[in-house]
Amino acid sequence: MASRLVPFACRIAPRASRQFQRTQWRAFSVARPSWNESGSLNVHRDTPENNLKIPFKFTPQNEELIKEVVSRYPSQYKKAAVMPLLDLGQRQHGFCSISVMNEVARILEMPPMRVYEVATFYTMYNRDPVGKFHVQVCTTTPCMLCDSDSVMKACEDELGVHHGETTKDGLFTFSEVECLGACANAPMVQINDDYYEDLTYESTVSLLKGIRHAAQATGAQPGAKGLASGSGKGAKVGEGGPGEDAANRQGRAYEASGVKVPTPGPLSGRKSCEPAGGLTCLTGEPWGNETLRKDGAL
Ligand code: FES
Repeated sequence: MASRLVPFACRIAPRASRQFQRTQWRAFSVARPSWNESGSLNVHRDTPENNLKIPFKFTPQNEELIKEVVSRYPSQYKKAAVMPLLDLGQRQHGFCSISVMNEVARILEMPPMRVYEVATFYTMYNRDPVGKFHVQVCTTTPCMLCDSDSVMKACEDELGVHHGETTKDGLFTFSEVECLGACANAPMVQINDDYYEDLTYESTVSLLKGIRHAAQATGAQPGAKGLASGSGKGAKVGEGGPGEDAANRQGRAYEASGVKVPTPGPLSGRKSCEPAGGLTCLTGEPWGNETLRKDGAL
């Protein structure tokens, strides 16, 4: 009998011991902190620039906008306006601070936790301050296959920081992000509200140089409240700066104090996402009622 029991006990003992230990490991107090995709912690920690003692109120102009946004939803579902309101708060304050989120919760009469859930889920809401220019480089598969590594390297070399960091002068924050929906013009980068596409190492460096020079030439102050962009939102070079008049805007690109900032869009000479080598099909007159562009652009 003993000869049967001993092997059985030997087999069962390690399993029983593992079960026992697993029970001990599941203590709530040792739960792993959760990080979001952009690498920031999904919990709030008080900092000098982000704590409950810093009050936040929307400007009267933004309050008018809020009325307009909220009026688009049935009154019992006004919490549906949480995303545009967070965006508005981020544009006004520069980032989605705890006070911004609480103010949005108060206006929409929803539990603050519900607002925190939205703000922590979407990486477009920055819960920490960002520089005046938020440089977001896409490294998802199509951009990666088109050498987004070079774009990342160019940003590191030119800005002197790694992704997730802000330059010492507070002008640039450099982030690595997932697909921004411009894969046909990969690799690309979003800087504040603008997309710059078909990038190379060289064009990225000259783009960043151009933006830095223009910001300095127009006296744009990094980190000024309401100007610093959130997720690519906010002011462009010279907005509100003393050198605003010097900026000679031409469409969306402009020249300031002799410094030319590249036009957003493809920097390869393409107009949009047409084939780089010209049209290869659909080059004849359509046989139906359709018409071709008359300007000969495509
Ligand atoms: S993969 Fe970069 S924009 Fe889609």
